[in-house]
Amino acid sequence: MAKHDTPMLDQLESGPWPSFVSDLKEQAERRAKNEEGVEFQIPSDVCEDLLGVLELSFKHGRTHWKHGGIVGVFGYGGGVIGRYCDQPERFSGVAHFHTMRVAQPGGKFYTTDFLRDLMKLWDFRGSGITNMHGSTGDIIFLGTTTPQLEEIFFELTHNLNQDLGGSGSNLRTPADCIGSARCEWSCYDTQALCYYLTEEYQDELHRPAFPYKFKFKFDGCPNCCVASIARADISFIGTWKDDIKIDQEAVQGYIGGEFLPNGGAYTGRDWGPFDIAKEVIDLCPTDCMWMEDGKLKIETKECTRCMHCINVMPRALRIGDDRGLSMLVGAKAPILDGAQMGSLLVPFVKVEEPYDEIKEVIENMWDWWMEEGKNRERIGELMKRQGFQKLLSVTGIKPDARHVQEPRTNPYIFWNEDEVEGGWERDVDEYRKDHQR
Ligand code: HEM
Ligand code: HEM
Ligand code: SF4
Ligand code: SF4
Repeated sequence: MAKHDTPMLDQLESGPWPSFVSDLKEQAERRAKNEEGVEFQIPSDVCEDLLGVLELSFKHGRTHWKHGGIVGVFGYGGGVIGRYCDQPERFSGVAHFHTMRVAQPGGKFYTTDFLRDLMKLWDFRGSGITNMHGSTGDIIFLGTTTPQLEEIFFELTHNLNQDLGGSGSNLRTPADCIGSARCEWSCYDTQALCYYLTEEYQDELHRPAFPYKFKFKFDGCPNCCVASIARADISFIGTWKDDIKIDQEAVQGYIGGEFLPNGGAYTGRDWGPFDIAKEVIDLCPTDCMWMEDGKLKIETKECTRCMHCINVMPRALRIGDDRGLSMLVGAKAPILDGAQMGSLLVPFVKVEEPYDEIKEVIENMWDWWMEEGKNRERIGELMKRQGFQKLLSVTGIKPDARHVQEPRTNPYIFWNEDEVEGGWERDVDEYRKDHQR
């Protein structure tokens, strides 16, 4: 017999998609039975009370969590999102319901041993409820009490060799696409770079020192499977400089129908036989492809590496060999001054350990933003306020046509005084000598 009636939530148990309600009920039941004899460190009915408070929110159409919550572990300034229920008597199991962010591995590859160890700890000291994973990337432990935080942190670090993720005005947990692990389009080892920079900037991640949050994301190619261009203050997006490699025989394989276009992604509907002119050549954004004597040709210097042709014919076309990444900066959600996607700052940089060139750009940006950024101003907003030109000057990057989609249309152009002959110091009496009042 469940602790609370949940008529509305019960409706979400029907339908084909995996039901979070059914899963929560199963977990509630498992804790009630406690067949493994776990000495639960937080209320055993935490899942029931979570369902209860959620049902109440469904009824009221309002949240029942109090404002904010400041909890954590000694030594760190972030990693735990404190939260308290505003109906603690009725739902005592979730009176404290803090969330812990746990650093995830690159590409989110796991062994069952590791996950089992994590869950053993979380069953014992938390709710057993998780989010796999948070949008930023972390493993999310959903729901525990304040006294358990240090206990969990001790276990994580001493027995599982595992750290917390980031929260607050700091470097948040970096995340990556699976990259070279399982993708033939990966232009650099996203997991290696993500891991390296996460370790390199642990201090910036654990102890907030910034005007606001800051995120890194790593995509192996412009397909952007981790959406770095939209969801990271710096996005690292793989690309190449030389020719796309063309296997002409495989191109014929596509034309002849031997290979399915797009790896068979559109087989759910009849789109007719593959037509290379219509589906590839005519869709190339720069019109730099053509067929000549039955061979596919690409004018490399006009190709913008959009990935379209490679995505359509993965067996015939391959990324080039001269690989690196582009760095784009400033992406953010709407608050305060409107949504932004990353703007191109570094068109191409080689990705070679110890990544000095990349670190230099990051640290120059940080030096600028940490000094000039207003309280709770994302770097994208600082770029708007002080100008892209300023970003270029602090990073020592030369302005380049690739930095803009189009040149400015307004004539409100600032010049540095030293660029203008004679400077700004002028004497009006000198002027009057030639121009009467
Ligand atoms: C034959 C007479 C005049 C000519 C040919 C002339 C021409 C111009 C031109 C070409 C501009 C630049 C417009 C732009 O921004 O693209 C301008 C701006 C301006 N003119 Fe005149 N103008 C004349 C008379 C006047 C007079 C008599 C006044 C004031 C009493 C005046 C006030 C201004 C002001 C304030 C602006 C600046 C507007 C802004 O900052 O956008 N002009 N004028
Ligand atoms: C008490 C009197 C005045 C007040 C309070 C006033 C106020 C203002 C304000 C607030 C602006 C906008 C500034 C900006 O945001 O860029 C402005 C612009 C302007 N005012 Fe006035 N103004 C006054 C008198 C005048 C007079 C007498 C003239 C011309 C004979 C004049 C010509 C202009 C012009 C041409 C602009 C546009 C400047 C630009 O586009 O950059 N104003 N004024
Ligand atoms: S972003 Fe590119 S390299 Fe990374 S997984 Fe997606 S397609 Fe592959
Ligand atoms: S990658 Fe894009 S721009 Fe380059 S040849 Fe292919 S379709 Fe054209």
